[in-house]
Amino acid sequence: MDTTNDTPRHIAIIMDGNGRWANARGLPRGEGHRAGAESVREAVETCRQLGVEYLTLYAFSSENWSRPKNEIDSLMKLLERFLRDKLPEMLKQNVRLHAIGNLSMLPVNCRKEIDKAIEKTRDNTGLNLILALSYGSREEITDAARALATKAAAGEIDPADIDNEMFANHLYTAGIPDPDLLVRTSGELRISNFLLWQISYSEIVISPKNWPDFRNADLRAAVDEYARRHRRFGAV
Ligand code: IPE
Ligand code: IPE
Ligand code: MG
Repeated sequence: MDTTNDTPRHIAIIMDGNGRWANARGLPRGEGHRAGAESVREAVETCRQLGVEYLTLYAFSSENWSRPKNEIDSLMKLLERFLRDKLPEMLKQNVRLHAIGNLSMLPVNCRKEIDKAIEKTRDNTGLNLILALSYGSREEITDAARALATKAAAGEIDPADIDNEMFANHLYTAGIPDPDLLVRTSGELRISNFLLWQISYSEIVISPKNWPDFRNADLRAAVDEYARRHRRFGAV
Protein backbone atom coordinates (compact mmCIF):
# COMPACT_ATOMS: atom_id res chain seq x y z
CA MET A 1 0.00 0.00 0.00
CA ASP A 2 2.68 2.48 1.02
CA THR A 3 4.50 3.75 -1.99
CA THR A 4 7.30 6.23 -1.72
CA ASN A 5 7.18 9.54 -3.54
CA ASP A 6 9.38 10.57 -6.43
CA THR A 7 11.45 13.72 -6.22
CA PRO A 8 9.10 16.65 -5.56
CA ARG A 9 8.39 18.67 -8.70
CA HIS A 10 7.84 21.79 -6.62
CA ILE A 11 9.43 22.73 -3.30
CA ALA A 12 8.29 25.86 -1.44
CA ILE A 13 10.33 27.23 1.46
CA ILE A 14 9.47 29.68 4.23
CA MET A 15 12.98 30.93 4.92
CA ASP A 16 12.68 31.91 8.57
CA GLY A 17 15.07 32.61 11.44
CA ASN A 18 17.60 35.04 9.99
CA GLY A 19 17.07 37.49 12.83
CA ARG A 20 17.48 34.84 15.53
CA TRP A 21 20.61 33.54 13.81
CA ALA A 22 22.11 37.05 13.98
CA ASN A 23 20.90 37.71 17.55
CA ALA A 24 22.53 34.51 18.77
CA ARG A 25 25.85 35.85 17.46
CA GLY A 26 25.41 39.40 18.76
CA LEU A 27 25.11 40.66 15.18
CA PRO A 28 22.58 43.05 13.63
CA ARG A 29 19.60 41.34 11.95
CA GLY A 30 20.87 42.43 8.54
CA GLU A 31 23.84 40.10 8.98
CA GLY A 32 21.39 37.22 9.34
CA HIS A 33 19.75 38.12 6.05
CA ARG A 34 23.18 38.36 4.42
CA ALA A 35 24.15 34.91 5.72
CA GLY A 36 20.78 33.59 4.49
CA ALA A 37 21.69 34.51 0.92
CA GLU A 38 24.25 31.69 0.89
CA SER A 39 21.52 29.23 1.91
CA VAL A 40 19.48 30.48 -1.05
CA ARG A 41 22.40 29.72 -3.36
CA GLU A 42 22.69 26.21 -1.90
CA ALA A 43 18.95 25.55 -2.13
CA VAL A 44 19.03 26.43 -5.83
CA GLU A 45 22.05 24.19 -6.35
CA THR A 46 20.46 21.26 -4.48
CA CYS A 47 17.22 21.57 -6.42
CA ARG A 48 19.17 21.54 -9.67
CA GLN A 49 21.06 18.44 -8.60
CA LEU A 50 17.83 16.66 -7.61
CA GLY A 51 15.96 17.64 -10.77
CA VAL A 52 13.30 19.68 -8.94
CA GLU A 53 11.36 21.76 -11.49
CA TYR A 54 10.09 24.62 -9.29
CA LEU A 55 11.54 26.22 -6.16
CA THR A 56 9.45 28.94 -4.50
CA LEU A 57 11.17 31.01 -1.82
CA TYR A 58 9.26 33.24 0.60
CA ALA A 59 11.67 36.15 0.78
CA PHE A 60 9.47 39.04 1.96
CA SER A 61 5.85 39.04 3.06
CA SER A 62 3.20 41.76 2.81
CA GLU A 63 3.35 41.88 6.61
CA ASN A 64 7.14 42.35 6.62
CA TRP A 65 6.57 45.98 5.54
CA SER A 66 5.75 46.62 9.21
CA ARG A 67 9.39 46.02 10.19
CA PRO A 68 11.76 48.90 11.03
CA LYS A 69 12.78 50.97 8.00
CA ASN A 70 16.47 50.17 8.35
CA GLU A 71 15.82 46.43 8.25
CA ILE A 72 13.59 46.80 5.18
CA ASP A 73 16.21 48.99 3.47
CA SER A 74 18.96 46.46 4.11
CA LEU A 75 16.78 43.59 2.86
CA MET A 76 15.91 45.47 -0.34
CA LYS A 77 19.57 46.37 -0.95
CA LEU A 78 20.51 42.75 -0.38
CA LEU A 79 17.86 41.58 -2.84
CA GLU A 80 18.98 44.09 -5.45
CA ARG A 81 22.62 43.04 -5.10
CA PHE A 82 21.77 39.34 -4.99
CA LEU A 83 19.88 39.51 -8.28
CA ARG A 84 22.62 41.55 -9.97
CA ASP A 85 25.44 39.30 -8.72
CA LYS A 86 23.67 35.99 -9.37
CA LEU A 87 22.33 36.73 -12.85
CA PRO A 88 25.42 35.34 -14.67
CA GLU A 89 25.18 32.16 -12.57
CA MET A 90 21.45 31.82 -13.25
CA LEU A 91 22.13 32.16 -16.97
CA LYS A 92 24.92 29.60 -16.85
CA GLN A 93 22.81 27.18 -14.81
CA ASN A 94 19.74 27.49 -17.05
CA VAL A 95 17.65 28.85 -14.15
CA ARG A 96 14.50 30.79 -15.00
CA LEU A 97 13.46 33.49 -12.54
CA HIS A 98 9.86 34.39 -11.69
CA ALA A 99 8.46 36.71 -9.01
CA ILE A 100 5.08 36.65 -7.26
CA GLY A 101 3.61 39.29 -4.97
CA ASN A 102 2.74 42.96 -4.99
CA LEU A 103 5.93 43.92 -6.81
CA SER A 104 4.80 47.53 -7.29
CA MET A 105 5.51 48.06 -3.57
CA LEU A 106 9.22 47.31 -4.03
CA PRO A 107 11.81 50.10 -4.46
CA VAL A 108 12.35 50.98 -8.12
CA ASN A 109 16.01 49.83 -8.21
CA CYS A 110 14.97 46.46 -6.87
CA ARG A 111 12.20 46.15 -9.42
CA LYS A 112 14.63 46.95 -12.21
CA GLU A 113 16.92 44.06 -11.22
CA ILE A 114 13.93 41.72 -10.94
CA ASP A 115 12.55 42.72 -14.34
CA LYS A 116 15.98 42.40 -15.90
CA ALA A 117 16.65 38.94 -14.42
CA ILE A 118 13.16 37.72 -15.43
CA GLU A 119 13.64 39.02 -18.97
CA LYS A 120 17.19 37.64 -19.40
CA THR A 121 16.30 34.19 -18.05
CA ARG A 122 12.93 33.82 -19.76
CA ASP A 123 14.11 31.24 -22.32
CA ASN A 124 15.91 29.08 -19.75
CA THR A 125 14.49 25.59 -19.43
CA GLY A 126 16.03 24.34 -16.16
CA LEU A 127 14.93 25.08 -12.60
CA ASN A 128 12.15 27.65 -12.21
CA LEU A 129 13.08 29.87 -9.27
CA ILE A 130 10.06 31.77 -7.96
CA LEU A 131 10.68 34.58 -5.47
CA ALA A 132 7.73 35.58 -3.30
CA LEU A 133 8.28 39.29 -2.68
CA SER A 134 5.89 41.61 -0.91
CA TYR A 135 3.75 38.49 -1.08
CA GLY A 136 0.60 37.77 0.88
CA SER A 137 -1.66 34.87 0.10
CA ARG A 138 -4.85 36.61 1.20
CA GLU A 139 -4.07 39.51 -1.17
CA GLU A 140 -3.39 37.01 -3.93
CA ILE A 141 -6.75 35.34 -3.35
CA THR A 142 -8.67 38.62 -3.12
CA ASP A 143 -6.92 39.84 -6.31
CA ALA A 144 -8.12 36.69 -8.08
CA ALA A 145 -11.67 37.16 -6.75
CA ARG A 146 -11.65 40.78 -7.93
CA ALA A 147 -10.36 39.83 -11.39
CA LEU A 148 -13.07 37.19 -11.77
CA ALA A 149 -15.78 39.57 -10.50
CA THR A 150 -14.62 42.21 -12.98
CA LYS A 151 -14.81 39.72 -15.85
CA ALA A 152 -18.24 38.54 -14.72
CA ALA A 153 -19.52 42.12 -14.45
CA ALA A 154 -18.26 42.78 -17.98
CA GLY A 155 -20.08 39.68 -19.21
CA GLU A 156 -16.83 37.95 -20.21
CA ILE A 157 -17.46 34.95 -17.98
CA ASP A 158 -20.52 33.30 -16.47
CA PRO A 159 -20.20 33.11 -12.64
CA ALA A 160 -21.56 29.56 -12.88
CA ASP A 161 -18.41 28.57 -14.77
CA ILE A 162 -16.04 29.60 -11.96
CA ASP A 163 -14.44 26.42 -10.66
CA ASN A 164 -11.19 25.50 -8.87
CA GLU A 165 -9.23 25.44 -12.09
CA MET A 166 -10.44 28.86 -13.30
CA PHE A 167 -9.78 30.32 -9.87
CA ALA A 168 -6.24 28.89 -9.75
CA ASN A 169 -5.60 30.38 -13.18
CA HIS A 170 -6.20 33.84 -11.70
CA LEU A 171 -3.67 33.44 -8.89
CA TYR A 172 -0.10 34.80 -9.25
CA THR A 173 0.98 31.17 -9.58
CA ALA A 174 -1.16 30.45 -12.67
CA GLY A 175 0.50 27.71 -14.71
CA ILE A 176 2.75 26.57 -11.84
CA PRO A 177 1.93 23.19 -10.26
CA ASP A 178 1.11 23.23 -6.52
CA PRO A 179 4.04 22.63 -4.14
CA ASP A 180 4.57 18.97 -3.27
CA LEU A 181 6.78 19.83 -0.32
CA LEU A 182 6.60 22.86 1.97
CA VAL A 183 9.59 23.48 4.23
CA ARG A 184 9.70 25.99 7.07
CA THR A 185 12.89 26.67 8.97
CA SER A 186 13.46 27.93 12.54
CA GLY A 187 10.90 25.58 14.06
CA GLU A 188 7.83 27.80 13.74
CA LEU A 189 4.61 25.87 13.23
CA ARG A 190 2.67 28.33 11.09
CA ILE A 191 2.07 29.32 7.50
CA SER A 192 2.32 33.14 7.84
CA ASN A 193 0.12 33.95 4.84
CA PHE A 194 2.06 31.85 2.33
CA LEU A 195 0.41 30.04 -0.62
CA LEU A 196 -2.76 29.21 1.32
CA TRP A 197 -4.60 27.92 -1.73
CA GLN A 198 -1.65 26.12 -3.29
CA ILE A 199 -0.48 24.11 -0.24
CA SER A 200 -3.82 22.33 0.26
CA TYR A 201 -2.14 18.94 -0.17
CA SER A 202 1.55 19.77 0.26
CA GLU A 203 3.62 17.66 2.63
CA ILE A 204 5.03 19.87 5.39
CA VAL A 205 8.52 19.53 6.86
CA ILE A 206 9.60 21.82 9.69
CA SER A 207 13.31 22.20 10.39
CA PRO A 208 14.53 23.48 13.75
CA LYS A 209 17.49 25.18 12.05
CA ASN A 210 17.52 28.89 11.33
CA TRP A 211 17.61 29.66 7.60
CA PRO A 212 21.31 30.67 7.45
CA ASP A 213 22.20 27.24 8.92
CA PHE A 214 19.88 25.35 6.55
CA ARG A 215 22.17 23.97 3.90
CA ASN A 216 22.44 21.31 1.19
CA ALA A 217 22.27 18.30 3.56
CA ASP A 218 19.24 19.75 5.36
CA LEU A 219 17.26 20.22 2.16
CA ARG A 220 18.21 16.72 1.03
CA ALA A 221 17.02 15.37 4.39
CA ALA A 222 13.68 17.18 3.93
CA VAL A 223 13.34 15.66 0.44
CA ASP A 224 14.16 12.22 1.88
CA GLU A 225 11.47 12.68 4.50
CA TYR A 226 9.02 13.72 1.78
CA ALA A 227 9.92 10.59 -0.18
CA ARG A 228 8.92 8.42 2.79
CA ARG A 229 5.52 10.08 3.28
CA HIS A 230 2.29 8.52 2.09
CA ARG A 231 0.25 11.13 0.22
CA ARG A 232 -3.44 10.32 0.30
CA PHE A 233 -5.25 13.32 -1.26
CA GLY A 234 -8.33 12.39 0.70
CA ALA A 235 -8.46 8.83 -0.54
CA VAL A 236 -7.62 5.73 1.52
C1 IPE B 1 13.27 35.46 7.72
O1 IPE B 1 13.94 35.71 8.90
C2 IPE B 1 13.51 36.53 6.67
C3 IPE B 1 12.35 37.44 6.49
C4 IPE B 1 11.19 37.33 7.05
C5 IPE B 1 12.56 38.56 5.59
P1 IPE B 1 13.35 36.70 10.01
O2 IPE B 1 13.85 38.06 9.71
O3 IPE B 1 11.90 36.55 10.12
O4 IPE B 1 14.09 36.13 11.30
P2 IPE B 1 13.44 35.83 12.72
O5 IPE B 1 12.22 35.00 12.49
O6 IPE B 1 13.12 37.15 13.33
O7 IPE B 1 14.52 35.09 13.45
C1 IPE C 1 7.47 34.59 7.09
O1 IPE C 1 8.32 34.82 8.16
C2 IPE C 1 7.85 35.46 5.93
C3 IPE C 1 9.12 35.13 5.29
C4 IPE C 1 9.89 34.12 5.58
C5 IPE C 1 9.52 36.02 4.23
P1 IPE C 1 7.95 35.88 9.29
O2 IPE C 1 9.10 35.90 10.24
O3 IPE C 1 7.57 37.18 8.68
O4 IPE C 1 6.65 35.22 9.94
P2 IPE C 1 6.06 35.34 11.40
O5 IPE C 1 5.98 36.81 11.72
O6 IPE C 1 7.00 34.63 12.31
O7 IPE C 1 4.74 34.66 11.32
MG1 MG D 1 10.68 35.30 11.20
